[in-house]
Amino acid sequence: MNILGIETSCDETSASVVVDGQIMSNVVASQIKWHQQYGGVVPELASRMHTEKINRVVGQALQDAGVTFSDLNAVGVTYGPGLEGALLVGLTAAKTIAKITNIPLIPVNHLQAHIYAVYTDPVPPEFPFLALIISGGHSIIAQVNDHFKIEILGSTRDDAIGEAFDKVSRVLGLGYPGGPAIEKSARDGNETAFKFAIPMKHEGYELSFSGLKTAVISAVQQFSGGEMPVNDLAASFQKTIADTLIHKAKFAIANSNLKEVVFCGGVSANSYIRTRLADALSESGTRLIVPAFQYCTDNGGMIALTAYYFMQQHPGYSGTINSVKPNLSLCI
Ligand SMILES: Nc1ncnc2c1ncn2[C@@H]1O[C@H](COP(=O)(O)OP(=O)(O)OP(=O)(O)O)[C@@H](O)[C@H]1O
Ligand SMILES: [Mg+2]
Repeated sequence: MNILGIETSCDETSASVVVDGQIMSNVVASQIKWHQQYGGVVPELASRMHTEKINRVVGQALQDAGVTFSDLNAVGVTYGPGLEGALLVGLTAAKTIAKITNIPLIPVNHLQAHIYAVYTDPVPPEFPFLALIISGGHSIIAQVNDHFKIEILGSTRDDAIGEAFDKVSRVLGLGYPGGPAIEKSARDGNETAFKFAIPMKHEGYELSFSGLKTAVISAVQQFSGGEMPVNDLAASFQKTIADTLIHKAKFAIANSNLKEVVFCGGVSANSYIRTRLADALSESGTRLIVPAFQYCTDNGGMIALTAYYFMQQHPGYSGTINSVKPNLSLCI
């Protein structure tokens, strides 16, 4: 079973080939350096750059995996959530490939795909398990009961954690994307220098990060005109995010009695948070499973893997360019 996966939901043009459940290639063309000058992703620019890159990225993914279009059995593509114009580029490419090679087209939910990135782990979790989907646009606590059966337990009422990283980074003058910049700066900072409260501490599965972002901005304003302790602010902010995720994960574990937690989405690329979460959860006998770094932020590998598991669950699936609409069974 050779599956091509295509991802263009935001600012990464990516394609991957999965053969029998193994990622054989994963080509990611990042647009970050073009968006950096604007301090965030410019949707129109993203669509245009996807259009320029998509053919080369797909060609390279096939070549790296040693397959050709005629070897493919299915093509999976992100249909959402994401930037509309950006999604359209990947969808158009996928539909064209499916049409000319006469293979099924699988519309993949990007957030489910973040979870499926853990299937790169040699010992993937067993159903049911908990998932923390923590990315640039979403922060969700979910229970994954079976393939494509996901129950959302709670999510952010406002900002996503990745978004908070990006905004805090901007006010600290650390640039875009904020996650890696804050992580680097925090290594030289004192994480107890500033005390920020855990948001929604007593609100069960509920999450919220705009208040924390505002608290950091207020702390920054104290130093206007003077020298700002950037590293301490970065470290204290990052610590509060880790404390919050640990607190919420422990709540979810206590409520569900589940013993495996998946941490996925772009923010799961943060080594400090990965380590803090893994250590805190292991104390209570819970195993944390995090995708390898290259599969945390957006990538075609997770899309192709999701499509692979979809085909395993739906043998004989033959959705085509005409029949495929965003498939609700794949929705989170
Ligand atoms: N090391 C890191 N530490 C913290 N955050 C990080 C790190 N690396 C990346 N991020 C954050 O991850 C986000 C990007 O993740 P991802 O690519 O999954 O988001 P997205 O695809 O834009 O959003 P979504 O998946 O919700 O549609 C950015 O906000 C970025 O700052
Ligand atoms: Mg993403």
